[in-house]
Amino acid sequence: MRIFLIGTGLLMLLSIAAIAGQSKAPTPQRLPAGWRNWTHITTGVIYSKEHPLFGAFGGVHHIYANRVAAEAYRKNANKFPDGSQIVFVLYEAKDENGMYVAGKKKVTALMVKDSKRYAKSGGWGWQAWDASGKAIVKDPVGQCQSCHDQVKNRDRVFSRWNP
Ligand code: HEC
Repeated sequence: MRIFLIGTGLLMLLSIAAIAGQSKAPTPQRLPAGWRNWTHITTGVIYSKEHPLFGAFGGVHHIYANRVAAEAYRKNANKFPDGSQIVFVLYEAKDENGMYVAGKKKVTALMVKDSKRYAKSGGWGWQAWDASGKAIVKDPVGQCQSCHDQVKNRDRVFSRWNP
């Protein structure tokens, strides 16, 4: 009886571990080479503590899209096809006598569309690297997707194409 109980206990623990392992959404492991030559979509400057994102994203950011994603942006599409990749790069805002310029790099964030591979995180793979190149996303749904869900109707992409 005791052995049976221990056995069932172990089995339960193993299945809980398996479920936990399964439910974790995967994240992209590498920043794609050449992103700096992609199409520039837009630029933003979060400069004030009044902005809700000042703590995490204060500074100057640029958004770049690869060919597939840039085409969707240009068409003002509400769906980004698989293969779309978007980079958000954030620099310190450096005040040069009243002009803000990009200073030191703070973070580089990536969204990769692959509806099968990233089915558990809205069809997008989410990752970000700090200034030292360390990957910082452990929980893509909680850290990234939950906020981007505000624009679910636009395939979770906030920025828009300005001609
Ligand atoms: C609290 C809200 C919030 C969180 C959390 C957040 N983002 Fe964003 N993200 C935004 C907003 C707002 C923009 C649009 C900025 C603009 O238009 O200039 C954006 C833009 C982006 C873009 C460019 C594509 C787009 O949607 O415009 C990428 C790539 C991106 N974020 C990746 C990430 C990653 C990876 C994480 C997790 C580490 C993350 N974001 C977490 C709010 C958030």
